[in-house]
Amino acid sequence: MSRLIIISNRLPFSVERSGEEISLRQSSGGLISSLKSYFEKNTTDKFTERIWIGSCDLNTAEWKRTSDSIQGKDFTIEPVFIKKEIYENYYNGFANSTLWPLFHYFPSLVVYNKDFFNAYMESNRLFAEKTLEIMRPGDVVWIHDYHLLLVPQLIRNVDPAAVIGFFLHIPFPSYEIFRLLPTLWKRTLLQGILGADLIGFHTYDYVQHFIQSAKMVLEVDNQFNTINYNNRIIKTDLFPIGIDFDKFRNSCSNEKLSVHINDIKQSFAGKKIIFSVDRLDYTKGLTNRLKGYEDFLEQHPEWHEKVSFVFNIVPSRDLIPTYSDRKKMVEEKISTINGRFSTISWQPLMYRYNHLGFEELCTLYRAADIALITPLRDGMNLVAKEYVATNDKRGVLILSELTGAASELNEAILVNPTDSQAVADAIVMALTMPIEEQQSRMRLMQKRLYDYDVVRWVNDFLDQLYQAKNEQKKAIVKWLDTRAVSAIQHDFSLAERRCILLDYDGTLAPYAKVPSEAKPGKEVISMLADLAADERNEVVVISGRDSNTLDKWLGHLNINFVAEHGVFIKYKNQQWETQVALSSNWKDMVRPILELYVTRCSGSLIEEKKNTLTWHYRNTHPGLGFSRSRELLNNLLQMTGNTPIQVIDGNKVIEVRLMGVDKGNTALKIIDYFKSDFVLCLGDDTTDEDMFRIIRNKGYTVKVGPGTTAAEYTLSSQTEVVPLLKKFLDP
Ligand code: UDP
Ligand code: G6P
Repeated sequence: MSRLIIISNRLPFSVERSGEEISLRQSSGGLISSLKSYFEKNTTDKFTERIWIGSCDLNTAEWKRTSDSIQGKDFTIEPVFIKKEIYENYYNGFANSTLWPLFHYFPSLVVYNKDFFNAYMESNRLFAEKTLEIMRPGDVVWIHDYHLLLVPQLIRNVDPAAVIGFFLHIPFPSYEIFRLLPTLWKRTLLQGILGADLIGFHTYDYVQHFIQSAKMVLEVDNQFNTINYNNRIIKTDLFPIGIDFDKFRNSCSNEKLSVHINDIKQSFAGKKIIFSVDRLDYTKGLTNRLKGYEDFLEQHPEWHEKVSFVFNIVPSRDLIPTYSDRKKMVEEKISTINGRFSTISWQPLMYRYNHLGFEELCTLYRAADIALITPLRDGMNLVAKEYVATNDKRGVLILSELTGAASELNEAILVNPTDSQAVADAIVMALTMPIEEQQSRMRLMQKRLYDYDVVRWVNDFLDQLYQAKNEQKKAIVKWLDTRAVSAIQHDFSLAERRCILLDYDGTLAPYAKVPSEAKPGKEVISMLADLAADERNEVVVISGRDSNTLDKWLGHLNINFVAEHGVFIKYKNQQWETQVALSSNWKDMVRPILELYVTRCSGSLIEEKKNTLTWHYRNTHPGLGFSRSRELLNNLLQMTGNTPIQVIDGNKVIEVRLMGVDKGNTALKIIDYFKSDFVLCLGDDTTDEDMFRIIRNKGYTVKVGPGTTAAEYTLSSQTEVVPLLKKFLDP
């Protein structure tokens, strides 16, 4: 049985000081609400212990004094102590003045400050150290939110086998926004997150934005939601966070609450109640919302004295000027509206500035006829979900389409929060919505919230984390380490007729943006010449390239060649021989499609060989190139079904050729020809897999670069090929 270690910047309590006195209260925010309700609810899960690591605003002596009262029965708290100056620059600085505004699409509010970034790195290091201090083999580590983007990698560096999940509770912005960060920061942040095995987001868009940024900045490879980075397989997916549905639902039958609700209803007798509650944050669209309400009041005098807006704000991050300034702005707007429309017996806005406890919150959710939730951006927004869960018989949710919750709560009245007229119209629509319609919309949303509540969210994430770990295990490669190399060298030394089969692109030469630029370097040429100098060695360059290119680049060497995957073979000191009957009629059918994709994907190009047409997309925008390649593949497969034309999805290439030859059968033919008693075969691409499959039992097969393979061994990169082959030269 393992333990679950949750790491978030904030612990479920916040410290309040008044002189020497310390008191604790529940922290605000969606992250705390969800994790806390998961812990409180699910007591019979698969973990022997649940530990919550977070920053603590107490000094060590104060912690010793108060820790007994803080420790809950549901989890153990492990505090991270961070020096005040560092914490300031990390929390108010990089986390909340750089990442928060940027990730919520407020680039003009972003502060770029090196000291903030350094403090962020330092704080993340402290979180990672604390975790490593208490971590045991088998523990599951789950890191939360934008404060701790570097922690996954910091833990991974020390414990490569650790099981690490990461979840981002805020939006991941589009690459056009993310790229505004200085390059070093971008790279460090993405590398940090990619230390995890599973990376979770609230919505499909956030997943796509993250993958796109990782591709553009770190040039990672991906297959849909699976990323390949530093020889590790990392999964990303969407897990829209849920709430403790039952807890909110059951509040409906709480008698104490019913009394409070009646009290509220009486004090608002004859009036409809509009309600909102948010942290005081510029992302929440508070002034826009007030403007929408003002427009409504202005355009609909018939509703005066018949509606009240209970507008609650929870203090948040008030040491940051962009937050404290906002308070003044919001309060001025509230006074303007109240000053403008109030009568002796009616005030259109009731404003409160404090934290609401669970019971009070539920009372207001229940009493409200309308919840007006209109953030300018919000990763999810749990208040909207809680309002829906709490109201069974009636109620209308007006929700910003720019929240993560909008992707799940389609039956709400969705509005653009910047459009005050749309907000005003939505209020009218909500006020006049027939009760049956209110109920039917609520029921559909409730069903969804019930089905995917917070426990389901946690279990879903953890199940996927285990699955990601299993997939990594299956894909574990056997590295060509010094022991394996010694064994191969030993067999090599005993053999008399050695055959060394070498792919060209990606094996003997690194990929170039344009194929004609991937010429062999001097070192490769001299190594091949030296290998070929021993007459026991038959060196074969087995390539998809055309015969002219191979002749031009390597033809002066005393070695053997295979061109176009086996269509042509040239044994040393002989002429090229064609191995299959050639026909080029098929090319006229395929070429126009490839040409179309060249115009649709700038940077791509066609390479024409005698038996092959190749569409290269290495030199294109990574996202566009990949998506065009999937479309092209689809078109070609449909077009060539039931024909002798073969379509191959290679490394940034799509190759089309006539069936009948492949590198596997060609390699076999060559080994037989030379009657080889030793075979070593190196390659990196899809077409080399044919060789690996056929030769695996006849010799040594080595895949160059990461990825699943039929080869026995893997060499981590192309740069290691020459040093490896030099080990087979006589001293
Ligand atoms: N909340 C609370 N008391 C308050 C205001 C909010 O307990 O006075 C809780 C609310 O129930 C919700 C969370 O804080 O679970 C706010 O989460 P949300 O996702 O709506 O916004 P965030 O603050 O995370 O941006
Ligand atoms: C958002 C963030 C949380 C954060 C919460 C409250 O929900 O995603 O990580 O805890 O806001 O903000 P605070 O700065 O008070 O922790």
